[in-house]
Amino acid sequence: MVFDLSQLTTAEKQYYLQHIVAPRPICFASTIDMEGNVNLSPFSFFNMFSSNPPIVIFSPSRRVRDNTTKHSFQNVMEVPEVVINIVSYDMVQQASLASCEYPKGTDEFTKAGFTKEAATMVRPPMVKESKAKMECKVVEIKPLGDQGGAGNLVICEVLLVHIDDSLLVDNKNFDQTKLEHVARLGGDWYCHVSKENLFKVPKPNIQLGIGFDALPSGIRYSKYLTGNHLGQLANVHEMPVVQPSYEDEHLKNIIQYFSVNPEDMEKELHQYAARLLDQAKVDEAWQVLLAID
Ligand SMILES: Cc1cc2nc3c(=O)[nH]c(=O)nc-3n(C[C@H](O)[C@H](O)[C@H](O)COP(=O)(O)O)c2cc1C
Repeated sequence: MVFDLSQLTTAEKQYYLQHIVAPRPICFASTIDMEGNVNLSPFSFFNMFSSNPPIVIFSPSRRVRDNTTKHSFQNVMEVPEVVINIVSYDMVQQASLASCEYPKGTDEFTKAGFTKEAATMVRPPMVKESKAKMECKVVEIKPLGDQGGAGNLVICEVLLVHIDDSLLVDNKNFDQTKLEHVARLGGDWYCHVSKENLFKVPKPNIQLGIGFDALPSGIRYSKYLTGNHLGQLANVHEMPVVQPSYEDEHLKNIIQYFSVNPEDMEKELHQYAARLLDQAKVDEAWQVLLAID
């Protein structure tokens, strides 16, 4: 299906975009109005956009229903300061409760059962239960339209970051497995970032990967290697060569056993290479694949 956005209602545009632009991290924004009333609301139109200056942006939209604006938006127009609290799995139900449309002046810290902790450089309080929070000054508010569903970019400069000691190793290095972020997808769907579902992809560094076009065609068009496997193989800096010193009993067995049938041998070798790549053993996989040339 192809959807032409100009033919969809605003609710439909929102529906498809929120399902495909996902998962989105959640900014749990604490703001304050001129009278000192505190507001706390979650926003998944949120991300970081710059490190120098350190900029994060979230977007309280105009309501699709009636084109009204949100209290968080009104607050940052009055007092351009915000604390962005990161939502972890243990807070998700309470954070969702804080998204209820309580009347202006209602303190969602109280409604959703969170504890206030004074910030250092800005007036809105922090959420004590959040393990990572950013004290921010709002540097610009950019409305993206004046109709229902229009976003309002709240561009924030991060002044101070608070990170719970439990997330740091030696008071310095961030342990990504510990924060257990939650992120929002389409509709009521969320995902939980946990130790079990995290994985690493080694960053291509300054040296360039050889690329798919440099892969030998027997590998490039293999029936057994997926796009992920080829992506790993094509990320080496130069075309590998056979290492005579490479020792692998399983490889030896495949070559001995299947030498009479080249097609079966290719299948066995490619499937073995795929298993090695699944274990991030790229050099070994190359040696296996080069064994039939
Ligand atoms: C996880 C989550 C993410 C949300 N993300 C957004 C968002 O990015 N933009 C938005 O306008 N509303 C978003 N909402 C809805 C607002 O939180 C909701 O409208 C809230 O009542 C706004 O509160 P306020 O009027 O007190 O500012 C989200 C709700 C939840 C539960």
